[in-house]
Amino acid sequence: MFVNLSTLLFPLCFVASFPLILSQKHEYDSTIKTMEEFSGYPFQEHGFKDSSSALSVDIQSLQRQIDELASFSDTPAPSVTRVLYSEKDVLARRYIKNLMGLAGLSVKEDAVGNIFGRWEGSEPEIAAVSTGSHIDAIPYSGKYDGVVGVLGAIEAINALKRLGFKPKRSLEVIMFTSEEPTRFGISCLGSRLLAGSKELAERLETTVDNQDISFSDAARFSGYAHEDVSTVFLNEGHYHAFIELHIEQGPILEEEGISIGVVTAIASPASIKVDFEGNGGHAGAVLMPMRNDAGLAAAELSLAVEKHVLESGSIDTVGTVGILELHPGAINSIPSKSHLEIDTRDIDEKRRNKVIEKIHQSALNISRNRGVKLSEFKIINQDPPALSEDLIIKATESACKELTLSHKKMISRAYHDSLFMARISPMGMIFIPCYKGYSHKPEEFAAPVDVANGVRVLALTLAKLSLT
Ligand code: GLV
Ligand code: MN
Ligand code: MN
Repeated sequence: MFVNLSTLLFPLCFVASFPLILSQKHEYDSTIKTMEEFSGYPFQEHGFKDSSSALSVDIQSLQRQIDELASFSDTPAPSVTRVLYSEKDVLARRYIKNLMGLAGLSVKEDAVGNIFGRWEGSEPEIAAVSTGSHIDAIPYSGKYDGVVGVLGAIEAINALKRLGFKPKRSLEVIMFTSEEPTRFGISCLGSRLLAGSKELAERLETTVDNQDISFSDAARFSGYAHEDVSTVFLNEGHYHAFIELHIEQGPILEEEGISIGVVTAIASPASIKVDFEGNGGHAGAVLMPMRNDAGLAAAELSLAVEKHVLESGSIDTVGTVGILELHPGAINSIPSKSHLEIDTRDIDEKRRNKVIEKIHQSALNISRNRGVKLSEFKIINQDPPALSEDLIIKATESACKELTLSHKKMISRAYHDSLFMARISPMGMIFIPCYKGYSHKPEEFAAPVDVANGVRVLALTLAKLSLT
């Protein structure tokens, strides 16, 4: 049984939170107005149901932080682009460390720049409860993906501190390095390493970005990688529990008018890099029967990806060719080289693997039929799905009930650092609604009331888990 913290702490909380509840309501209204003007679209008004609980979130400060963090971007607002170890990433990291310090957390970083902010519990020697997410942002994306789970986690700690809560197990906020694969083609780089991926540690010794900058040079630019990356590995049992707050990135919660998603499983992602090499040549002079067009091979493989995914017969199988590059990239030159990056996922790992096999077979056939060389077919990652831990699901559901927030169990089709934290710790995730399910584009938006609800559920769940 979990302790009902709201009841235990009620007298103290009531005094502490009352002024904040008033200012939240006021700020919520003005934030809605500003966001509508800023984004150019209207969004649903929810009632701000804060009076049922003493756990108060300073949504005014949190929204300001979300907006400030979004300004560390390499593309203009409303889009956000923040790539691993870029100047903007370094500035954003500084911003996070500063906030952790202001929240009274002791801050540490590991060799690849995973950042840890710890609030010591009354029994610091037992395994801590951790929470967190990422702040890197793919090109031209939005400001909520990952960010809500980092800034929201710091605010959850602040909210618990304001209540006078004292954790038994230490509470730790983690900002993971490079959840997005943008720079080095490897997703969840920081959490994969934390979970002890020797294969990745080895691969990073020779990994370069598309400018030929090595991973270690890029890390050094940001002040990291002084040590062997295997120093990042954590043992199973290092954490008692890990829980991540995130926007849903899908439309279900908003459509059904539900405040909180309690994640039960994360679908299994895979990514593949493919290179074709043909002969190239003059776009006017080389007649059609004489061509070995690497661009057309890539086009044909892209359509084959769609076909194989649809053949699975399940709505849960998805596949995307997100990168397609042609060389030399001139209108009057037949592509001599093409490069594709393919993302495919499913909640059923075996079915996803079958799709990968079929894509490989198609790549071989296309290469033979078109007389182009399949110079690379590399599976970058082929990860299994992860299941949430019952203990964390129950703690989250019980937090939702105490806060009188509607909730439902759901799966995550997107991957998260939680997928890898589940390898070394019991894991759980909290989803909040986002506008039309938009994500990985500038229109991504979560209403302040939903962010605040997510942070309150996170805070209460952390508090419960810290006492178990
Ligand atoms: C995470 O960003 C994903 O692509 O699921
Ligand atoms: Mn993302
Ligand atoms: Mn994310």
